[in-house]
Amino acid sequence: MSRIAIKSGGPAALPEWRAGFAAAAPGIEVIGWQETGAEQAEYALVWDPEPGRLAAMRNLRCVFGAGAGVDLITADPGFPRGVPLVRMAPPEAAQRMGEYIAWAALHLLRDGQRIARQEAARHWDEFHGRCASDLRVGVMGLGVMGLKAAEMLRGLGFAVSGWSRMRKSVPGMDCFAGDAELDAFLARTDLLVSLLPATEATRGILSAPLLAQLPRGAMLVNAGRGMHQRIDDILATLDSGQLSAAVLDVFETEPLPPDHPAWTHPRLTVTPHLASTPSRPERARFVAAQIARIERGEAPAPLWNPETGY
Ligand code: GLV
Repeated sequence: MSRIAIKSGGPAALPEWRAGFAAAAPGIEVIGWQETGAEQAEYALVWDPEPGRLAAMRNLRCVFGAGAGVDLITADPGFPRGVPLVRMAPPEAAQRMGEYIAWAALHLLRDGQRIARQEAARHWDEFHGRCASDLRVGVMGLGVMGLKAAEMLRGLGFAVSGWSRMRKSVPGMDCFAGDAELDAFLARTDLLVSLLPATEATRGILSAPLLAQLPRGAMLVNAGRGMHQRIDDILATLDSGQLSAAVLDVFETEPLPPDHPAWTHPRLTVTPHLASTPSRPERARFVAAQIARIERGEAPAPLWNPETGY
């Protein structure tokens, strides 16, 4: 029997993890991060392990990130580089992200904030805006999540382009690549959707100089990481009218402190990092399938690549 030590959701989440693994792979024993035997486990499923803890696990065969982004795992300078690190990628993760981005795009298109304000004030004011086909959406980051979001946005009728560091080719979609094509991509983007990976190259990318390259009155959705954005620049750009509205799911400090001005900005919608969290049974099924691959001698996937940082 193999063992998996879990640090995700705290002790309260353990019964659900246990039930998820019992259903997906009864041969895997689930051990809480603080329970006896965790150090001896062959597998770890973690969101934010304490520095040094993974390196001390001598039997470790594979680390599973509890999320698609593994930045809080690789931030540990003692992270055991020889052990494979798998990003969480059940099919539901991309589906959920696509749903969130579709919701955010429609919320911005139909001015959901104005609807909510009018409803709270019992104020009947018919207003009409643009149609999805009038809005040029630009998706930054064309990984599994970005591609799914782009596909769903196109299905809704938005005019969608993509940008990624390495060139991608997607039938029927304009794909821009690298620094050389970033200006052209931004200049044709009325709604910028960021689903970039968290790497040193993308830190702070959503800041005043980049936002200034969008057409005046553009809109922004960030469901990647808080480290991608300079929140003060985003608030100032909303105040100046360069951005007309934004939806942010991620912040540098989470939870976002109650006194943060982002909460009350009239043209900013804040959601609490909920864009794409597959359920524990969905994640247990995915991890169990990867463990089965490892135990058959096959490579698990998708593996974190230290060269690209994602
Ligand atoms: C959540 O942000 C994740 O990385 O899955």
